Amino acid sequence: MITTIQQLKAEIENLTASTNEQVEALRIKYLSKKGEIAQLFNAFRDVPNDQKREVGQLLNELKESAQNKMEALKAATNSSAGQTDTTDLSRTGDPVLLGTRHPISIVRNKIVSIFSHVGFTIAEGPEIEDDWHVFGSLNFPPEHPARDMQDTFFIEKNPDVLLRTHTSSVQTRIMSTTQPPIRVICPGRVYRNEAISYRAHCFFHQVEGLYIDKNVSFADLKQVLLYFAKEMFGENTKIRLRPSYFPFTEPSAEMDISCNLCGGEGCAFCKHTGWVEILGCGMVDPNVLEACGIDSKVYSGYAFGMGVERITNLKYQVKDLRMFSENDVRFLQQFEAAF
Ligand code: DAH
Repeated sequence: MITTIQQLKAEIENLTASTNEQVEALRIKYLSKKGEIAQLFNAFRDVPNDQKREVGQLLNELKESAQNKMEALKAATNSSAGQTDTTDLSRTGDPVLLGTRHPISIVRNKIVSIFSHVGFTIAEGPEIEDDWHVFGSLNFPPEHPARDMQDTFFIEKNPDVLLRTHTSSVQTRIMSTTQPPIRVICPGRVYRNEAISYRAHCFFHQVEGLYIDKNVSFADLKQVLLYFAKEMFGENTKIRLRPSYFPFTEPSAEMDISCNLCGGEGCAFCKHTGWVEILGCGMVDPNVLEACGIDSKVYSGYAFGMGVERITNLKYQVKDLRMFSENDVRFLQQFEAAF
């Protein structure tokens, strides 16, 4: 019995294993309930009494050393498994990609900031509107083509629930709830029933401006627009106002700026005229003031409206309007440093 114990002890001492499964197989072989060591413990009953002390001690030592060996084998296979992992812990971490602001947001924020420096506050209104705020209060006659399904998205076949086609609707929301003086800038998204192409989209962004007070004149409008053009496109920018027509302003005008690509020399972008159109404006029609409950004999005001995509194109020469809504990161990442 003593020699068997010693042989087994030597055998276990020399065991090797390279996987966890092998270690487990050895543990079962030697240390489980029916394993070799357990069998020796069973045979212990037949050991003559005078040897029991010595054999018992040897058996306990054998069991203990077998247990230690299994622990050691297990630890060795676990740590060698760690070494086969090819992760290089000394490498620097992956760079974290920072998001970029969308070009439309950059330009909208810039427009808002320019006007906020001369006392305009921001006002916003709903995108889902009714006929009165988008057309009726703004002096659109009932048969005006903008009220047609061709141009405007109507919701739920109800002609009085529609997507606003311009941010001028925010003008009437403000005027019918606030008494002058009013000086607001209204940025927002607008919708038109247009076929999508490189130069038109069914949604885009506008910024509306409105100033109502006593004695507001066309000269005030002109000076605020000149200030805006210089702030937006540079100190040397010139403006010109051309007579135009909008139902909600009288007189009305469209404003051009000297082409910021060729400096007014004439290029393909400005169709060799030296000028590019950037906004519509005018003196608020007295009918609009009255429709909103403002006394047109006491107050007058100006309004203007511009397309954010148009200004963005001028600043960054984006040739295809669709780029703004496609979320292509190769396009968007180019604006990383722009704000
Ligand atoms: N609402 C006009 C449009 O969508 C833009 C506009 C023109 C706004 C003249 C104004 C304005 O406030 O006075 O085309």
